[in-house]
Amino acid sequence: MENVRSLINILDLSVEEIDGMVALATKMLADPAAYAHKCNGKILATLFFEPSTRTRLSFESAMLSLGGQVLGFSEASSSSAAKGESVADTVRTVSCYSDIIAMRHPKEGAPLVASQHSLVPVINAGDGGHNHPTQTLTDLLTIHHEKGRFDNLTVGFCGDLKFGRTVHSLISAMSRYTGTKIVLVSPEELKLPSYVKKEVLQKNGIPYEQTTDLESVMPELDILYMTRVQRERFFNEEDYLRLKDSYILTPDKLHNAKADLSILHPLPRVNEISVAVDQDPRAAYFRQVRYGRYIRMALIMKLLGIA
Ligand code: NCD
Repeated sequence: MENVRSLINILDLSVEEIDGMVALATKMLADPAAYAHKCNGKILATLFFEPSTRTRLSFESAMLSLGGQVLGFSEASSSSAAKGESVADTVRTVSCYSDIIAMRHPKEGAPLVASQHSLVPVINAGDGGHNHPTQTLTDLLTIHHEKGRFDNLTVGFCGDLKFGRTVHSLISAMSRYTGTKIVLVSPEELKLPSYVKKEVLQKNGIPYEQTTDLESVMPELDILYMTRVQRERFFNEEDYLRLKDSYILTPDKLHNAKADLSILHPLPRVNEISVAVDQDPRAAYFRQVRYGRYIRMALIMKLLGIA
């Protein structure tokens, strides 16, 4: 719908808007009580057609922290999708009951279709193996707090770069900053899709390298973004079992890493980071979880037009 601002792709937000949201989230972290009534009377609907812990609960926590209320469903089987209802009809309905919608769906493009039929803003909370812009906002707030800048960073992505939607969205976001270098570490079968390489990296002239060997590139990295092998997107279990433990980050593999490396992971973690790494001060993934709530508070206020 016209005049309704949705967030489907991270590039829907300008660099200046992201800076504004990072600044607002930082103020909220310092003084959450000052924002406790900003969304009084507003309702967030969370429509999750795929499993989630952090994304759904951080959205709900964000709206509740702003004084608003939440409704929704956390599995497709408990919605009318199970009866064959289209995304368009579901969202037409839910937009009569809510002021803003966060949607996760296994089909690429479903939240975009939803936004075209909604009376209220729709936020893409993950669409298949495509995009995940609010995880990227979380990642950006984390990077800002860990590094104090977005420019001149070498970011390594390791694991499932093919199906990992958080990877695709964060690469798009980082491609707008000066001096970004990207290092892609994956097994052959899980390489970054060529459309992301062409339309994002090559189009923006971003220097990048591809390797299967994490330790050889470790010393270059300012940020190491580890990812889970996305079991649910594989066509057969055998391939998943063969590839799932391709990379396991252990303390010894960090021996040649920078002293100020930041290790990020969108979570959930399966095997790809050993729990022994959690004690390392460079492990930022649980700090990252906390930032997810505050950046979503900033996003909800922005899309609802609340200053
Ligand atoms: C990610 C996702 O859903 O894409 N999780 C999240 O939202 N924090 C990453 C993943 O599931 O591996």
